[in-house]
Amino acid sequence: MNNFIYCNPTKLVFGKGQIARLGELIPADKHLMITFGGGSARRNGVYDQVVRALEGRTWTEFWGIEPNPSVETLRKAVAQGKEQGVDFLLAVGGGSVIDGTKLIAAGLLYDGDPWEIVLKGRAACGVPFASVLTMAATGSEMNSGAVISRYETQEKYAFYGNYPVFSVLDPETLFTLPKRQIACGLADTFVHVLEQYMTTPGQSRLMDRWAEGILHTVIEVAPKALGEERDYDTMSEYMLSATLALNDMIAMGVTQDWATHMIGHELTALHGLTHGATLAIVINGTLRTLRDQKHGKLLQYGERIWGITEGSEEECIDAAIARTEAFFRSLGLSTRLSEEGIGEASIAEVERRFNASGVHHGEARNVDGAMARSILEACL
Ligand code: NZQ
Ligand code: ZN
Repeated sequence: MNNFIYCNPTKLVFGKGQIARLGELIPADKHLMITFGGGSARRNGVYDQVVRALEGRTWTEFWGIEPNPSVETLRKAVAQGKEQGVDFLLAVGGGSVIDGTKLIAAGLLYDGDPWEIVLKGRAACGVPFASVLTMAATGSEMNSGAVISRYETQEKYAFYGNYPVFSVLDPETLFTLPKRQIACGLADTFVHVLEQYMTTPGQSRLMDRWAEGILHTVIEVAPKALGEERDYDTMSEYMLSATLALNDMIAMGVTQDWATHMIGHELTALHGLTHGATLAIVINGTLRTLRDQKHGKLLQYGERIWGITEGSEEECIDAAIARTEAFFRSLGLSTRLSEEGIGEASIAEVERRFNASGVHHGEARNVDGAMARSILEACL
């Protein structure tokens, strides 16, 4: 295992009815701003629960943080928050609202344009913030990352700021999610684990077993989570899996990859394709293209996750990659770029962007423009 420092300060408040605790969780002397997405919170009753929990308090609201939150919108929230002396933020929504709120939190203590924070990749400071999660996928409720888009230039980049002070996870809030969002959330969770697991074998038995535990859980709950009935226990397992997949827990002392995410972000920036949907396509190309580099881990994954033991090593790897693609298809997601109308023009643009910025993504730092092209061509 490599050396590491682990410190995740987010308090998780999990379960039915827990939004009612907001009054006790948010310090009484704070000038509070509550941030929302496009309106799902109002339609599904979460907004009413928040209002009831904060009875007797005053706050200001900012609505309209989009899926794939834009700096164009977030600049307005920062201006509103500065004008009103906001010193605590509560994000009510999915990863987009929480990510957007992370930039607002940093922007409130920053004199320049918030986009500069994104480009720097790290916020120097920020006002404290918390979340009420309504969509399980990103882990943003218990990590310090945020991914922000700039629509005018079709760019999308991650930066790191503070962790939420607390996050309320009530699985009942997930009952109103459309099936496609749940499918994308399950895919995102699965690929978060793979980004931290599908690297070099033999680094940590413990991290491997935790990661495999999350993969098995996601595979087990997926059919029920996508079924007609909304079941509390199923949604609980799905929700907590998403949080644990990206809260630093399975990354202790091991190498990570993230090339699939970096390519996926470009596809969202160029086409608006939902984050989880990009991953369900790109991961297959990554595994096919880097199968030699990931040989040992692909064998372990095939055996422990999909029970693949018959045949030569290469046949086992073929089967593991095929089972992975079949899993994403079972969620109802596309696994080929062509199914989403994405082709050579976008591949060339991703290659151009990676070359222009000189990036080398992935565990082995070998995913440059040319490799990104190979990966994308392998999932056409
Ligand atoms: O905007 P509203 O009206 O709230 O509707 C949202 C949105 O349209 C809706 N929704 C949320 N909760 C709902 C609901 N609809 C019905 N019932 C509910 N309970 O779902 C739609 C999608 O929401 P969004 O927040 O965009 O989804 P998600 O949580 O998947 O977040 C995606 C964003 O997070 C970034 C992605 O790149 C993308 O921008 N990521 C953030 C990460 C992080 N911070 O660590 C890591 C991830 O890899 C990812 O990149
Ligand atoms: Zn993701």
